[in-house]
Amino acid sequence: MNAVFPGSFDPITSGHMDVLTRASRIFDHVTVTVMHNARKQGKHLFDLEERLDILREATAHLPNVAVDSFGGLLVDYMRQQQKSIIIRGLRAVSDYEYELQIAHLNRQIGEVETVFIMAATRWSFVSSTMVREIASYGGDISEMVPRASAAALRRKFAEVYERRAAQNG
Ligand code: PNS
Repeated sequence: MNAVFPGSFDPITSGHMDVLTRASRIFDHVTVTVMHNARKQGKHLFDLEERLDILREATAHLPNVAVDSFGGLLVDYMRQQQKSIIIRGLRAVSDYEYELQIAHLNRQIGEVETVFIMAATRWSFVSSTMVREIASYGGDISEMVPRASAAALRRKFAEVYERRAAQNG
């Protein structure tokens, strides 16, 4: 059975990687799909191509995982790809209400099922937003993201990191 793991992935975190890796052991094939929205362009730290490059590098070791992108409704993508299972990760109860709403709506408008995988508690408090915030001040995010994301964040915030390195001698 095939599944789709959709998200913004700005950038992919260790929590995402945990959910994806476990999904790749359950399903025959998993497509990680960056959902992008022309109206939200510029609101992301990484543009679509950068996010796809990071994802390709971070998932290269997973033979049954592919990377894709789509601008539009997730259910339209699912129909186009002839897929019917969405994977989403749940970190804490706080994720539940939002996820419950979109899972129900997606099933109503697209007849797709959402399968939830509980992210390991180690990653409960890790989000792309917090990782971006910490990295923007030169903080250490190396545990929270795969190497490809960490390298991309370092490149993005190179000046901050160089200043920090100089201060620390
Ligand atoms: O990583 P995120 O930001 O939590 O992912 C949310 C995402 C991209 C999966 C969700 O916003 C989405 O599916 N967007 C595509 C547009 C869509 O289908 N919206 C209707 C959901 S009911």
